[in-house]
Amino acid sequence: MIKNILVTGGAGYIGSHLSIELLNLNYNITIVDNLINSKKERIRKIGSISKKNFTFLKLDVKNTKKIEKILKKKKNRFSYSFSCTKKS
Ligand SMILES: NC(=O)c1ccc[n+]([C@@H]2O[C@H](COP(=O)([O-])OP(=O)(O)OC[C@H]3O[C@@H](n4cnc5c(N)ncnc54)[C@H](O)[C@@H]3O)[C@@H](O)[C@H]2O)c1
Repeated sequence: MIKNILVTGGAGYIGSHLSIELLNLNYNITIVDNLINSKKERIRKIGSISKKNFTFLKLDVKNTKKIEKILKKKKNRFSYSFSCTKKS
């Protein structure tokens, strides 16, 4: 059964809402976000709304070596990716 989930862009609009839902469903989640389009406050809110613990890493998803390490270390079997930037 999937227990550990990686959410990239988890401090963003879609990612933060999904993270709260996953925490409410008792999944262990790791949020990766470089905060380029969001604030740490959003991470605090995820914690205060869900009242659950999770791991947050300020990291760019383009850092594939670290992302691979996280996937292996946390035995993440599933990931959601919402990390994006809009071009003007
Ligand atoms: N918001 C909507 O209503 C909606 C609807 C349909 C689809 N989408 C799609 O869902 C995705 C997410 O949308 P959103 O509204 O949550 O955007 P958002 O800007 O609120 O969230 C994106 C998050 O990704 C982070 N990020 C950007 N580049 C990163 C990088 N290189 N490494 C790590 N983190 C990075 C940002 O800091 C931000 O927190 C987009 O692809 C968007 O097109 C959004």
